[in-house]
Amino acid sequence: MFDPLDLYTPDEIQVEPLQFDLAEKELEELSSQQQRDGTLANVDEKESDDDDTIIDNLDLPSVRYAPPEVILCILVLLRPNRQVNFNQETGKDKSVLEICESHGLEPDLLKRLLGWYTEEWPNKRLNSLKKICNKIPMLRFMVSKELLLSYYTSVLKKYNNCCGFNDETVQQLLKELSSRISENCGRTAQPSIIRYFELKNLTNAIPLYEPSLTADNLGWKTWGSSLILSQLVVDHLLTTNLNFAANSDTKQIKVLELGAGTGLVGLSWALKWRELHGTDNIEIFVTDLPEIVTNLKKNVSLNNLQDFVQAETLDWTNPQSFIDKFGHENEFDIILVADPIYSPQHPEWVVNMISKFLAPSGTCHLEIPLRAKYAREREVLKLLLLENNFKVVEEGHSEGMDDWGVVKYLYRQIVRN
Ligand SMILES: C[S@@+](CC[C@H](N)C(=O)[O-])C[C@H]1O[C@@H](n2cnc3c(N)ncnc32)[C@H](O)[C@@H]1O
Repeated sequence: MFDPLDLYTPDEIQVEPLQFDLAEKELEELSSQQQRDGTLANVDEKESDDDDTIIDNLDLPSVRYAPPEVILCILVLLRPNRQVNFNQETGKDKSVLEICESHGLEPDLLKRLLGWYTEEWPNKRLNSLKKICNKIPMLRFMVSKELLLSYYTSVLKKYNNCCGFNDETVQQLLKELSSRISENCGRTAQPSIIRYFELKNLTNAIPLYEPSLTADNLGWKTWGSSLILSQLVVDHLLTTNLNFAANSDTKQIKVLELGAGTGLVGLSWALKWRELHGTDNIEIFVTDLPEIVTNLKKNVSLNNLQDFVQAETLDWTNPQSFIDKFGHENEFDIILVADPIYSPQHPEWVVNMISKFLAPSGTCHLEIPLRAKYAREREVLKLLLLENNFKVVEEGHSEGMDDWGVVKYLYRQIVRN
């Protein structure tokens, strides 16, 4: 398995949420303008909008002859669809409006591309908005990566360092182009993204910002363990009759996520808890190193949990600053930890954290990937848990996905002896 743990170099956080500002009205006008155009209407009568002729890379505008705005529109249409649970949605037919919304596509740009395919370089397979909006994005699945990359590099060859093309469109084109190329190079080379996580038994998908992995900040990516553990804890909340009932007004439930990264596990727990019990009598901390917490706070807000969940620094090598600020030593009813073991010191630090923060009757939910390289660390973790008077009350193996494919995982539910 490809292990990306050693590959990063530090840089600033860059989170760029998708900008979309397209009025539905403008699109309707664009479609009806198409209807009013005699030539186009005739063509469309013969070549129905539902035409399912397949296109390929040869249908892309000629890099040599097409103007930059036409190429730019193609590059925007080739943006990846929203990512869900480490997979990308494959193409279902969508309306022009849906495609424009999901790709952040401006109507003028789309109009220009339509003009290219109807007037300048007529192409019957792409002579309507609907065909353009449905078929061009599908090229990502229909054409080999190599062919698309070769198209992108020919665009780069033409526009990179070209002094005659200093205008805004070319700048946008180059920005879009570098994203398309980097998206073909795996998660570690990708620009920042918002990824969506869908869990069974949770009403809404969870959006999470993931900054570009330009630094060795592993918490800027969501890891496969956290998806597995999130589903487990959501199901656990549904099925377990917790002895700390939410409607008890005497006891406040305290939840702590260690090494939360983008926060998936803690946020899943919080969202399910809110669905079931509201937000009274509960205190939730999602914690990590200071350089990770900024993005973690963004994800708390993105999920509208800022009144309910606190994203704070808790460094396993210096837990005292967290204790000085919030107290809560030996007070957490639930501790959540996903994928915390990837160096020789981690087992000791993590067991220390569980010892320091778990309440006498608390439960720790731990999920770790079975990376071949860290078998020894997993053994040490097991021994240290025993030595520190913890017992494993439930254990299970599973398989799940991460960005590079299928990974095996181990779950442990841990309590004090
Ligand atoms: C492999 S990532 C897993 C992140 C997240 N739990 C997930 O599964 O998506 C490991 C996380 O542990 C955090 N971490 C590593 N050393 C830490 C320390 N000394 N104190 C607190 N967090 C630490 C990293 O910053 C990172 O977010």
